[in-house]
Amino acid sequence: MYKTPLLEKSALKEKTILITGGGTGLGRSMAKGLLEAGAKVIITSRKTEVINKTASELADITGGLILAVTGDVRRYTDIEAVMAAGIDEFGSIYALINNAAGNFISPTERLTHKAFDIIVDIVLKGSYNCTLALGKYWIREQINGIMLNIVTTYASTGSGFVVPSACAKAGVLAMTRSLAVEWAKYGIRSNAIAPGPFPTKGAWTRLFPAGLAEKLDPKKRIPLNRYGHHQELVNLAAYLISDYSAFINGEVITIDGGEWLKGAGEFNWLDVVPKEMWDQIEKSMRKKSQGKPSK
Ligand code: HXC
Ligand code: NAP
Repeated sequence: MYKTPLLEKSALKEKTILITGGGTGLGRSMAKGLLEAGAKVIITSRKTEVINKTASELADITGGLILAVTGDVRRYTDIEAVMAAGIDEFGSIYALINNAAGNFISPTERLTHKAFDIIVDIVLKGSYNCTLALGKYWIREQINGIMLNIVTTYASTGSGFVVPSACAKAGVLAMTRSLAVEWAKYGIRSNAIAPGPFPTKGAWTRLFPAGLAEKLDPKKRIPLNRYGHHQELVNLAAYLISDYSAFINGEVITIDGGEWLKGAGEFNWLDVVPKEMWDQIEKSMRKKSQGKPSK
């Protein structure tokens, strides 16, 4: 069931959606799913060849309208150019998905200041550049725009070994909540999705490299004992972009199979205790608690 599309084919008809980092991974999957729901899609990223190939493949698979425009989200003028090309092609832009990101695992003290900058610039600066450009346009043109930001579960909790990403995603989450209130008067909604692990080449090569992944199987951290399926995230994104979610504003929806809560709950680690051991544990606890209190 979760591997099939949620929305009917015409749910997003006449809506144009800009997806940053839409050439690969989750961005590509969202582009495909939104085209299948009738939307027109603009994808942008740094690698022209990659986005052109994705656009041509998705146009063939879905029969939908998709435009690829090269751009670096760190450069405001690039985003203005992407927007102009999109409006020229499709007439208007109705939604923005801030999905482009950079990340890799590293002990923080090993990072150069440039390495820290590059992640924060792609994720935070990239997201506010696009948000500012689209927001000004929506307000000027009186369009009830939709903003959807792809963050992570550690945008709320923080996480070692991906500190630049954690700082930047936390900033994006703060922007989501702030603008949900400030721009609601213009009819603009802002929400975020916090995914747990969804297999993509981009994330896996940089966060779960071979060797490490085998030693510390990331799946074991997930109570549902599986990774997310791309269609599950696509369905959530499509819902949040559609009018079905018209009263949801300023929310971050976690989609991680219970992963972050497993790490947070004080005694969740007790699931390593084998069933037969619980008799012994209970017996010893009862014996002690029924004895005389020690002075
Ligand atoms: C330490 C590193 C490094 C590493 C790069 N750097 N990789 N430092 N450990 N593994 C340093 C470089 O030495 C350099 O600093 C600086 O970072 C910039 O690196 P470049 O390779 O010159 O930059 P660039 O080619 O622009 O590549 C950017 C990138 C790259 C972010 C480093 O990984 C990239 O293009 N990523 C885009 C896609 C991506 O990251 N996807 C994953 C998203 S997954 P110096 O000082 O030497 O110049 C995600 C999921 C999170 O966010 C949650 C999962 C559950
Ligand atoms: P991905 O395939 O590597 O996607 C990242 C995209 O960002 C790439 O297409 C990349 O394209 C683009 N990008 C990077 N720098 C850019 C820049 N300066 N300007 C424009 N585009 C840029 O990784 P993914 O796993 O699909 O990640 C997608 C989103 O989901 C990210 O926000 C990530 O943080 C989030 N997320 C993923 C997971 C997961 O498990 N996969 C979990 C939590 C959150 P170019 O290199 O061509 O620029």
